[in-house]
Amino acid sequence: MRALVIFRHLAPLVLSFLRDRKRWWFFGAPMRRTPAFHQARAERLVAAIAELGPSFVKLGQVFSSRSDLLPEPYVSAISTLTDQVPPVPSPIIEHEIERAYGRPVRSVFERFETEPLAAASLGQVHRATYQGEQVVVKVLRPGVEELVRKDMALARPVLRWLERRVPNPHLRNARTVIEEFAARVPEEMDFVHEAGNAQRIRENFKDNPRVVIPRVIPELVRPRVLVLEYVEGTRVDRLSSRPGERPQDPRGVVSTVMELYLRMMLVDGFFHADPHPGNVLVTPDGKVVVLDFCMVIPVTRELRWQLVTTIFAAIRRDAAGVVAGFELLGMIDAGADPEQVRGLADRLLTLAYVEMPMRERVELVTNEVMAALYDWPVRLPSEMVYFARTAALIEGLGVRYDDSFNAITFASPIALRMRRDILVSLGQGELPPVDLPTVVGAALGLAAGKAVKAGREFMRRLGLGFPSDDDDAPSDRRRPPTLLAGD
Ligand SMILES: Nc1ncnc2c1ncn2[C@@H]1O[C@H](COP(=O)(O)OP(=O)(O)O)[C@@H](O)[C@H]1O
Ligand SMILES: [Mg+2]
Repeated sequence: MRALVIFRHLAPLVLSFLRDRKRWWFFGAPMRRTPAFHQARAERLVAAIAELGPSFVKLGQVFSSRSDLLPEPYVSAISTLTDQVPPVPSPIIEHEIERAYGRPVRSVFERFETEPLAAASLGQVHRATYQGEQVVVKVLRPGVEELVRKDMALARPVLRWLERRVPNPHLRNARTVIEEFAARVPEEMDFVHEAGNAQRIRENFKDNPRVVIPRVIPELVRPRVLVLEYVEGTRVDRLSSRPGERPQDPRGVVSTVMELYLRMMLVDGFFHADPHPGNVLVTPDGKVVVLDFCMVIPVTRELRWQLVTTIFAAIRRDAAGVVAGFELLGMIDAGADPEQVRGLADRLLTLAYVEMPMRERVELVTNEVMAALYDWPVRLPSEMVYFARTAALIEGLGVRYDDSFNAITFASPIALRMRRDILVSLGQGELPPVDLPTVVGAALGLAAGKAVKAGREFMRRLGLGFPSDDDDAPSDRRRPPTLLAGD
């Protein structure tokens, strides 16, 4: 039975982790652990996860970008998971393709490479030629849906039980990640859905010459097989110039990645929710390629407003605004001590802006902020999990290429340049269910009476002007604010 298999693999590790903190049943002190022990245990953990199959591997990848939830050396060990998945033998993959199209592989593709380009947890990617064009064929592993469904059905009750036993904000955040994953994973296993996502994102970026989204071959889309244009590129975290090549400018690349994700989050409201370095390539001429569209989430207009106000508060270094933004975003527990939260925001802003070498910053953040967050009344609502992962991706890239990289000062000019598009996107279509000036006022941390005025003033100064009171008549509110015309 699946539950037994999982238990057999994980129980020894769980016990070992419990021993770090707790006495052994009735006697004995917590065990002392050496770095070598942690390293060895991290390797055992990764082996167990790889053994347990797709859902665990996929989930492991999700956690590999969450150094806030999982300490070293476990995060690093888990990020090697992708290389540990054994590929499905080519005849089985070809059989899947034949079943999907109802004809032999060689009659669909002129050339089909039996050696996979990538073997991932849920699917496998092969290169091929279709009507003279270089393509990739993405095939779902046989039987993967059933396995993942079983695992998720088991995970939910176990997590709920654990959370009752160990009421810890960390564990709760981890549960948010897993619940969110369980809710999204069925979509991930439907390539018709993925094809639709890819086409929509491609459309959203068609005017950006620095971004490449591979074209879908529409006539070859099936629920279990997806064919896309092949795009040559290097993983974004492995840039290097080979002799004779024009060196890629890492700063420009990071800037494009930042712009790309900010735009999806704040302008398009259609967000690529699997931001890890394996899904972002850089072409030889420095363009950024985004891959893997199985996980894409909508960002509602209301949420975009909340994000915009929080981000711009951070850009203004306004701690009260940041706190108000966190509250709007549902990141602060109801019973939280306002002083404590304000202290956290202050500290975060100071850390974000202070000039210091990256190593010191990382040390400070891990020692101080992460330690504090552990017990703090802060949580990450589900969409925020993806934004946090994106922040981790960009921070990781930035630091890789520039020791003194600072994500906020780097993002500020990009966000400001985008403000016009952000406003257009916020001003069109359905009205948000919140009163916009009040949201901004709240983000400024002002009393309700002053909020509307302050909100207008703040947005005006940013160049994100509101229509005046008179323009607030319902019929007029659907058009984008007037300031845009001359912006
Ligand atoms: N259109 C493409 N062009 C070039 N390489 C691709 C393309 N699509 C996928 N790949 C390669 O295959 C790998 C896995 O594809 P991806 O879509 O990320 O699948 P998964 O959901 O299994 O991670 C990518 O990391 C990349 O190396
Ligand atoms: Mg991928």
